[in-house]
Amino acid sequence: MIKPDGVQRNLIGKIISRLEDKGLKLVAIKFLRLTKEQAAEHYREHAGKEFYERLISLITSAPVVAMVWEGKNAVFIVRKLMGATDPAQADAGSIRGLYGMSMGRNIIHGADSVDSARREISIYFRPEELVSYEKTLETWIY
Ligand code: PPS
Repeated sequence: MIKPDGVQRNLIGKIISRLEDKGLKLVAIKFLRLTKEQAAEHYREHAGKEFYERLISLITSAPVVAMVWEGKNAVFIVRKLMGATDPAQADAGSIRGLYGMSMGRNIIHGADSVDSARREISIYFRPEELVSYEKTLETWIY
């Protein structure tokens, strides 16, 4: 998910390019503003933590881009491309290392496991909104 700060800073195209360039396959995309209910479901494991209210307030503050990307080891690869949660710790060439400002304004969210990805996808997409298709270079590009 490209978070509100990523959208506000005109980084949608750059972020999508990075994932495409890596060879991942986009199978669903939606531009939306999260409701409080969606945000609470998304971040339910963090309820009660000291940063929780700020997290919910930031993620609902403006539109986001929700996306589903497919590929071998996609969860791991996306997390590498994103960089560490804290932009100050993120590798300099990663998305958060390049563009992130703070823990709250760290540009992008990615699921931390396949199970989390399935759960998060179901918050934003109906099954029929995930588009299955072949790429002609399928043998070596996911
Ligand atoms: S934890 O407790 O280690 O599981 O938390 P962490 O993985 O570091 O962060 C969970 C998500 O909360 C966001 N976060 C914050 N948002 C706003 N303000 C503060 N201070 C803050 N600290 C952590 C963090 O970016 C994670 O959200 P996502 O969307 O996955 O980046």
